[in-house]
Formats: sequence, C-alpha cells, structure tokens
Amino acid sequence: MKRRDFLSSTLALAAAGLTPRPGRAEDGVVEVLIDEPIGDIPPEFHGHFTEHLGGVIYDGIWVGENSKIPNVGGIRKALVDCMQRLKAPVVRWPGGCFADSYNWRDGIGPRAQRPARTNFWTVDPELWKAADGPQKYEPNTFGTPEFMRFCQLCGSKPYLAANLRSLTPTDFDQWVEYCNSPAGSTTLAKTRAADGSAEPHGVMYWGIGNESWGCGGDFQPQEYAVEFRRFTAWVPNYGLRLRFVASGPGAEINDPKVEWTRGLFEGLLAKGQSMLNRLYGLSLHYYCWTAGKGSSVDFTVDDWYQLLWQADVMDSLIEKHWLAMGEFDKGHKVKLVVDEWGAWHRGPAIDPRYLFSYPPSLRDALVTGITLDIFNRHAGKLAMANVAQLVNCIHTLFLAREDQFAATPVFHVFDMYKAHLGGQSLRVVADAPAISYGSSKSLWGLAGSASLHGKTLVVTVVNPHVSDERAVEVALRGATAQSGRATVLTASDIHTHNDFEHPDALEPREEPANVAGSSFAWTFKPASVTKLEIALG
Ligand code: AHR
Repeated sequence: MKRRDFLSSTLALAAAGLTPRPGRAEDGVVEVLIDEPIGDIPPEFHGHFTEHLGGVIYDGIWVGENSKIPNVGGIRKALVDCMQRLKAPVVRWPGGCFADSYNWRDGIGPRAQRPARTNFWTVDPELWKAADGPQKYEPNTFGTPEFMRFCQLCGSKPYLAANLRSLTPTDFDQWVEYCNSPAGSTTLAKTRAADGSAEPHGVMYWGIGNESWGCGGDFQPQEYAVEFRRFTAWVPNYGLRLRFVASGPGAEINDPKVEWTRGLFEGLLAKGQSMLNRLYGLSLHYYCWTAGKGSSVDFTVDDWYQLLWQADVMDSLIEKHWLAMGEFDKGHKVKLVVDEWGAWHRGPAIDPRYLFSYPPSLRDALVTGITLDIFNRHAGKLAMANVAQLVNCIHTLFLAREDQFAATPVFHVFDMYKAHLGGQSLRVVADAPAISYGSSKSLWGLAGSASLHGKTLVVTVVNPHVSDERAVEVALRGATAQSGRATVLTASDIHTHNDFEHPDALEPREEPANVAGSSFAWTFKPASVTKLEIALG
C-alpha cells in the first residue's frame, strides 16, 4: 500500500469509528517501517576530530598541569566529563591539513625538550595578524602521549592521520611502532614507556594523509593511489588488524568530486583486486556554508533554509560516492569514513587567535540533526564519521577560553542522538509540505531516522520550518507503542545560541509524550530537533 493510500485509509477507518482515531494528520505522516532494516548504527558514527588549529588543542583540550582550570594531568576536565557523557567512540588527530606538516617525533619525550615549530595554519592571514601563541608556533606540549591520555580519559579510540606529504613510509612505520609495539620490545616502546605508557596504545585507525588533492600534497588521484600503496605495504601490525583510511574527495555542493574516488580506485586496483584488502575506508569531507560563509549568529531566514538545504546535500554525496566505489568494489568491502563534516561560518570568533571559533546556533543544531539522520539512513555504507571539530572550531560541540566553558547546541544534539548508537537503523518515510524559500528554492518539510534496540524504538525528526509546527500522524508499520518520552531542542528565536555569558540559552527539554498504539498524533515544533523514545509492546 502506498503511504498516501495508507494514510487516507487509516483516516477513513477512524472516521467510521472502526479503529482508534489516529492523531491529527493534516500536515502529513512520518512512517517508521519496522520490517525494513537498513543496517547497524555503529558508535563510530558519532566520532570527533581535533586538530592543531586555533584554540582546539591549546586551551580547548590542553590547559597544562599547573593550570588553575580544573584538569586531569593537563587536560581540561570539563571537556573530559562531557566526552564521557557522550560516550565519544573515537577521536581523530592531529589534523586535518596540520597532519601533513606534522612530525610525530616532535611530540614525544620530555615536554620541556620538545621543539617549537611553525604551525601549518600560519598560512591563514587572520591567524598571521593575530597575537603570537601556540596557534602560530607549535610548542609540541601536546603530542602522541597526551593525545592517547585524552582518549583514554574519554573512553575513545584514537584515529591518527599520518603525514604523507612531507614524511616517509619509514616515519609512518615507526609511528605505528611507537604506538603499538609490545611493552619493552623496541627502542620506541621504551620511549613510549618513559612517556607514561609501557603498554601499547593499540591504535587501529590510521588515515593515510589528509585531503591529498590539496593541502595534503596536491596529488592527482592516481598519483595518490601509488603513495597509498607504498605507505600501507607491509606496515608492522603487531597482531592487530590495522584499518587504513585513504584520503577521499573534498566534496562541494556543485561538485561531488566523484572523479577523485574513481581515479583513486583505478590507481589502487592497477595492482590487482587484492588491494581492496588494504583499504578499510575512503574518507569523505563535506562542509556546508552559505555564500561568503557569513555569521554563525546573525543570518536571515533565507540563510537559515539555505544552510539546511546545503547540509542535506550530504545525502546525495554519500549515494554518489557509494555508487562510484561499487564500480570497482562490487561487494562493497570498503566503506565511507566521513571524517570531516559540519557547518562552516565566518565568525564571530571567541578569540582572534582561535580560527573559526564562533558559537553555533539553533541553525547548526538542525544541521547536526539532519546530518546524523542522514548517516543513520545510510547505515551499512559508512564505517565512521567525525564532526569537525570538537572544541573552539567550525561545527564545534564546545567553546572554551581559559576558565570559561560552554556546551553548544551541537553537543546537545549529539547527546540526544546517542540513543541511536548500537541500534538497527530502520527506514523512515516522512511526508510533509515542502518549504519554498528564496526565489525558487525548496526544502523538504520533515526528515528523520529511526533505530530499534530490542523493544525500544528511537525516532528523531527535524522540522526546519522557522515558524510552522507540523501536526502529523506517526505510523509504526509493524509495531505498537506502549509508552514513550520526548526530548525537544528548539527556541522561539532561530538565532539562539550558547556562549560564556549564557551557557544554557539553548538546551533540550523533556516533554510529555502521549504515544500509544500503532499510530499516534505528534506535533513537531517549528525550528526543532525532536527525539521520541518509544517502548514497544
Ligand atoms: O577542519 C579544518 C580543515 O578543513 C582541515 O584541516 C582540512 O582537512 C579541511 O580542509
């Protein structure tokens, strides 16, 4: 039965008093198809990214052992507490573009003896104009031992990005050796022990370069494929199954850059199909932004819709690259790793030295919901995703400056959506009036995702309309709700955001949820992200 027919027949039966009346459904329907599983939602869909860029590492994560700011061995405690709350599964480091200029050897051994280097991001004129600091001249106080400690405190797996542009495969092998060789076995294992960890770190995820078509070396895809093969040939694995992630396309709204994906697979498989075994994942980077990037907190209604529309492009990018990968990898052994994503604005920065450190608003919360829902709907195609970046940068979850700390609306959506992790993604069909904006543009009326966890169903839905609620029927096809609870993130002003002065301006609220039966009414508030957690009969 088509969903429109299903909807009208349900309404007709209800009118005739033959079934309990489903809720008001004048705005449409959200159907959850319990019998149409898509795939598992691994915790790694909620991965993070930390780069030596602006205020991410210094001040964001690392405050120093002698700081008055509460810390655990120099690491900001408030951040660790929030990461534990999120059950953050994995953190990518040290870049980004920084990775292809970084020598991991600079960041090991006694901190006082580590060299100072010029940070990659001094190429940015804004940073160059700003005051000197660790953002410009990298002191290497935070290196591999500190990053591993951060991951350990957070309960997260490390994902390291290797320098392919300016170091050699030997350097790469030896970084693996430093991290993973057994206690007491090699000189580097002994250095690691002196750095605080006799036991190996067991790093499984390794990115082989970053944006190798750009800051990572200006390669053509076939050239990069040769380098990928060279870097990943016979790397010591110490009994672990290392998971190599190849540098993928930097997709744009008008150009998904599928040619990079095709060229890379062509170059890789020039050496035979068995090369697919080398590749755990293909990285995909996609940032959304409005023309000229604009302010994160001062924007028009059209800017609101345009950004959400651009965020939604992620859906087709995953589809296009997945199809291209399937031309070479028929069994789809290789998965996508969306290891940089988010909404990128121009400002206002919390500190001029902290590049891209603006406060995200309710609009960015909806970008987060839209994107995490897309990942759930593509479960099976993705192995991991890493939001860019964790603190003080781009689509940030946290703002931190000295003793000030605030969680952003992006954090709150991650906190809401963590209920999906570990579940089985189910098909969701949402039907609500589309929104027209600009001169001739349009955005869907509602979208979302669902996951099943035994007898618990989690449904998340974004209503992008700035002023209209959506009163719909929620139809569970193949299940019956017994009870439920709702969490809603919204505000009357679409520009609402959290900052140091108002850290709680935007927070999700628990709401009463009168949900029962196989169909019930629900009103999605304007400009909102909603989570329904439903106990099934
Ligand atoms: O996240 C900021 C930068 O964006 C990263 O360093 C780079 O990989 C991307 O272009």
